[in-house]
Amino acid sequence: MNDAIADILDPLMQATEVVVFSGAGLSADSGIPTFRDGATGLWANIDPDEVVSVAGFERNPGKVWAWHETMRALFAEVSPNAGHRGIAELATLLPKARLTVITQNIDGLHQVAGSTRVFEVHGSALRVRCHHHCGFVALWPLGEPAPRQCPSCGARVRPDVVWFGEPLDEEVFSNAVDSSLGADVFISVGTSAIIQPAASLPMAAKESGALIVEVNPHLTPFSEFADYSIRAGASQFFPALCAMLARRA
Ligand code: APR
Repeated sequence: MNDAIADILDPLMQATEVVVFSGAGLSADSGIPTFRDGATGLWANIDPDEVVSVAGFERNPGKVWAWHETMRALFAEVSPNAGHRGIAELATLLPKARLTVITQNIDGLHQVAGSTRVFEVHGSALRVRCHHHCGFVALWPLGEPAPRQCPSCGARVRPDVVWFGEPLDEEVFSNAVDSSLGADVFISVGTSAIIQPAASLPMAAKESGALIVEVNPHLTPFSEFADYSIRAGASQFFPALCAMLARRA
């Protein structure tokens, strides 16, 4: 890991745009299970069609709310780990670059750790919105009950999370695409890199010339395309990277 980090220090020092693209593995060391890590993965124990799909919500809204409430109860108990904190610190150590976080996570931990420019391409379990897209969106703070009826149009309210088969928020995804295309260094961390269209972002960055770094304890379908595919956990990698960058500053 340290040899690869040494190699990417110069590109990071020279970069003007750096992107960190994160997935569930980043929050694993905070105690939030990933989706697809064998028997411990969330989707090994429950069918996503039941709890994160429009069809599931139409069939059984109570089950969908219950799953989100369970996840939120977990989010309320956990804290950012050294990976989240390292990403926030990294933004302060880059002499020329703006750091953009593009996350598939819905747990809000990047922001708690101090990252400020965060695009949540799969939405957030800390917000609700009108199920009929009338424009109503509201914060849903941890520990508080959600309204079930839209105060603007009376339709049902739902978690502001992108469910299976749904399009991503156009503006958020367009910002994510622009940041990826403009990236000098693109770090993909803690994602199996298979769920589209988010998984297209690392390849888009690569095709537009970014140096691609992948951080994951396991190989992914994207590993062979990365310039550096580093077998490490996020909470080992980012503190080590920040320590080496701080010594160079
Ligand atoms: N550090 C870095 N990576 C890790 C760690 C860790 N400590 N622990 C596990 N990983 C890696 C796993 O090896 C795996 O490749 O994190 C990845 C998690 O993959 P998924 O469970 O598929 O999660 P993600 O890629 O975020 O899923 C994408 O799928 O169901 C949807 O909407 C959900 O946003 C999610 C999307």
